[in-house]
Amino acid sequence: EPEIITDKTQMRKWSRAMRSQGKTIGLVPTMGYLHEGHLSLIKESHKRTNVTVVSIYVNPGQFSPSEDLSTYPSDFHGDLLKLMAVPGGVDVVFHPHDLYDYNNNNVNKDMIDEKGGGVVSCLEERRAGHETWVRVEKLEKSLCGKSRPVFFRGVATVVAKLFHIVDPDFAVFGKKDYQQFRILQRMVRDLDFSVEVIGSEIKRDSDGLALSSRNVHLSLEEKEKALSVNRSLFRAKSNVEKGQVNCKELRDTVIQAISKAGGRIDYAEIVDQESLEAVEEIKSPVVFCIAAWFGKVRLVDNIEIDV
Ligand code: PAJ
Repeated sequence: EPEIITDKTQMRKWSRAMRSQGKTIGLVPTMGYLHEGHLSLIKESHKRTNVTVVSIYVNPGQFSPSEDLSTYPSDFHGDLLKLMAVPGGVDVVFHPHDLYDYNNNNVNKDMIDEKGGGVVSCLEERRAGHETWVRVEKLEKSLCGKSRPVFFRGVATVVAKLFHIVDPDFAVFGKKDYQQFRILQRMVRDLDFSVEVIGSEIKRDSDGLALSSRNVHLSLEEKEKALSVNRSLFRAKSNVEKGQVNCKELRDTVIQAISKAGGRIDYAEIVDQESLEAVEEIKSPVVFCIAAWFGKVRLVDNIEIDV
């Protein structure tokens, strides 16, 4: 059974004790409501470390006031049962009630004024006593950053906090959220964190749909439409392997397939795996990233294409 730790000082103490025993620590950050995709990350931690911490924390810093923070699903008890059943087990579930200081209401009113800063998250809206943010300036602007301007700033900041509290040797993230994974890898490199960021393969259901806690909101019909995303991505990869390297053509084909199925494309981009900059012709490793709406559900998926 995993030990449940809710206090950050307690969490730090546990990590220090493990380190003094010479143990290596793996961290798997999550926002809970766990599915097989999350659980697959734990295996990657087991491969590399002696002990594994799974954090469960819904971070207000990465939601904008108009997004779904209050309706974000949670089931802590169910999550614990799932974690108990993971082969090899989990040593600690770090489940802080709060990682920010709401009692220290020192936030300048300008910060929650939309005109002032531009970026406003649920954290500013709650007037938390928090004003330090990590921004990975270039990588956070493209792809999902365009439609979600506060998102990656919030992710990088909360993950930096988790790294300081847990002090892991390895931290595992899913390539499902490819931009998030690359941003965190970049943050660690730029700010000399002593943790290695591992990217773990996307877990899919038997139809190929990338697992996501949002999938439960898809009707049967919408799910069938959503399969156009993974199917067209896999087709694009096989077309590249057959010699098609023109990105405009590859993108047009995918956009057509998804639109025809009834999806509304947010973006469909072929980008360099590290810089996330768009390429015109595939000559080096790229990732084909898609975000698309099916009804009220926004799905993201991607496929790495190594050449
Ligand atoms: P969350 O959406 O809960 O996802 C937690 C981790 O699970 C992320 O690294 C995500 O990429 C991974 N994941 C989700 N679905 C997956 C799938 N089908 N296959 C493989 N991995 C998958 O991402 C977050 O939380 C937050 O932004 C967080 C990093 C915890 C910071 O708050």
